[in-house]
Amino acid sequence: MSIQEAIYARQATRSFTTEAVPEEKLQKIIIAGQAAPVGMGQYENYHFTTITSAAAIAKIEAAGSGHPYYGAPAVVIISIKNNGPMEQVSAGAMVENMALLATEQDLASCVVAGALQPLLKDEKLASEIKIPAGFVPCISLAVGYPKEHLKPAASNRHEVASDDIN
Ligand SMILES: Cc1cc2nc3c(=O)[nH]c(=O)nc-3n(C[C@H](O)[C@H](O)[C@H](O)COP(=O)(O)O)c2cc1C
Repeated sequence: MSIQEAIYARQATRSFTTEAVPEEKLQKIIIAGQAAPVGMGQYENYHFTTITSAAAIAKIEAAGSGHPYYGAPAVVIISIKNNGPMEQVSAGAMVENMALLATEQDLASCVVAGALQPLLKDEKLASEIKIPAGFVPCISLAVGYPKEHLKPAASNRHEVASDDIN
């Protein structure tokens, strides 16, 4: 799969099977996140938490507003040390790299911010899922096999207004 094919094929998936994601595929996804560009090259300001425990995922879902992870068997949380725009943008670059690598490995994914809200308020829960002290969960990726086959996308599905200045 080319990069362009992966970019077009990736889509927010909100229904997963219970089939586990093989460890080596998760490792590749993590490394893709590490390979992303981050502001000032300060990789020490980021932390990845890979959760494959259904009980731990359910605990996060049950807290706060109850935003779901859609039955995904794996979730990667990207936490940042300084909760500023540069770190947030960088976490975005990381999560997209992860999502594209998931797509390339025939996995489905969904970028999820909503489920992290309780973790921002509940220090005990954050510590239970090993978010390091001083870090804030910023964005997460639900990963797994889709319940329904993803629609093959050969081209872009979205519109963004743009201008040219020549
Ligand atoms: C920063 C960010 C936060 C998001 N948070 C959520 C979320 O909490 N729940 C959810 O179902 N989707 C979430 N999404 C997925 C978007 O809704 C989805 O990517 C968008 O509608 C475009 O659709 P596509 O991914 O299929 O191209 C998020 C995406 C981004 C980039």
